[in-house]
Amino acid sequence: MRILVTGGAGFIGSNFIYYMLKKYPNYRIVCLDKLTYAGNLSTLRKAMEFENFKFIKGDIADRDLVYDLFEKEKFDIVINFAAESHVDRSIEEPEIFLKTNVIGTQVLMDASRKFGVKRFHQVSTDEVYGDLPLDRPDLKFKEDDKLRPSSPYSASKAAADLLVLAYYRTYKLPVTISRCSNNYGPYQFPEKLIPLMIINAMNDKELPVYGTGHNIRDWIYVTDHCEAIDLIIHKGREGEIYNIGGNCEKRNIEVVKTILKELRKPESLIKFVKDRPGHDLRYALDTSKIEKELGWKPKVKFDEGIKKTIKWYQTNKEWWEKIISGEYMEYYERMYGKR
Ligand code: NAD
Ligand code: DAU
Repeated sequence: MRILVTGGAGFIGSNFIYYMLKKYPNYRIVCLDKLTYAGNLSTLRKAMEFENFKFIKGDIADRDLVYDLFEKEKFDIVINFAAESHVDRSIEEPEIFLKTNVIGTQVLMDASRKFGVKRFHQVSTDEVYGDLPLDRPDLKFKEDDKLRPSSPYSASKAAADLLVLAYYRTYKLPVTISRCSNNYGPYQFPEKLIPLMIINAMNDKELPVYGTGHNIRDWIYVTDHCEAIDLIIHKGREGEIYNIGGNCEKRNIEVVKTILKELRKPESLIKFVKDRPGHDLRYALDTSKIEKELGWKPKVKFDEGIKKTIKWYQTNKEWWEKIISGEYMEYYERMYGKR
């Protein structure tokens, strides 16, 4: 089997590459990644030691490069993780989100059609459904619910999902889509809630909680997401969407306090700051479809996953110290300086 993983130098894509290299030693895995601020080649250092792995630096929206690569590699399966992924950055500067998340997906699908790929899998997000109210814990999103994205990021992911479904209907491109909730685990870029809070707490810096901290996210440990994608690409039905969730809803403030407790740091580090514009209140997914059809269930409990994640950031300081010494500090100042 010959597999293309796009965005594999980022958080979930890199975890997926390690998962696949371990589980399928006979598969050839190629990673295509533009190495934006969020991509980090050092994350793939150990993968580079595998003979059946290859890294290519490039943009998924670069048609010539993508077509050349597909012609050469003759992929059976394409899994598209590559994206601009941070909501706050999409609010600052939406355009690149459309270029990568929509046009990039289109270019990959055109190449998949042209070169006869057997499965194109789009890694999407629960954010395409919009949000749920905080006082209706009974409500959860199902795969056929309306798309009501709130941010430029989620709108670009929703647009890509619609395009993927259109390519299935019009051109019979064999596609699948997965919509996952909030991931956490090793190699997550420290602009996202959990790694940002872990690193700030370790450095005795303020922990900036947006608004009241009462917003709810559903947390899933990254390897559970990888396992679900593995099942979908091998056993999922063409043209179908699968929700993937951790069944682990938590208010942001609860997550932040758990991190402080684990690190034995005081709650006085918490600082409530100006809310994110259009901030989604609550995400929750009905995951009965993937459970019934593919027998998937998340395995890692939050208590265990958060301990493992904190431990990883404690023992891999050189990975994140490099990141927070560069462009990241300018971003941090822009985002939090006067908040
Ligand atoms: P990330 O930001 O950590 O990584 C994205 C990767 O894509 C980086 O390596 C970056 O260099 C690469 N990339 C960006 N633009 C590119 C381009 N034009 N061409 C090639 N590569 C490019 O993101 P992540 O958190 O790992 O998310 C991966 C995917 O999963 C995204 O599609 C995201 O929408 C989706 N998703 C993420 C979460 C989450 O909680 N992080 C949850 C559900 C879905
Ligand atoms: O739900 C899946 C989505 O999860 C993915 O599609 C996105 O790619 C991923 O970034 C994530 O989006 P969120 O906006 O939910 O994640 P983020 O880590 O940015 O924020 C999580 C919550 O924490 C959210 O309610 C905002 C809040 N927050 C975040 C940051 C960075 C804070 O209170 N303070 C912060 O400094």
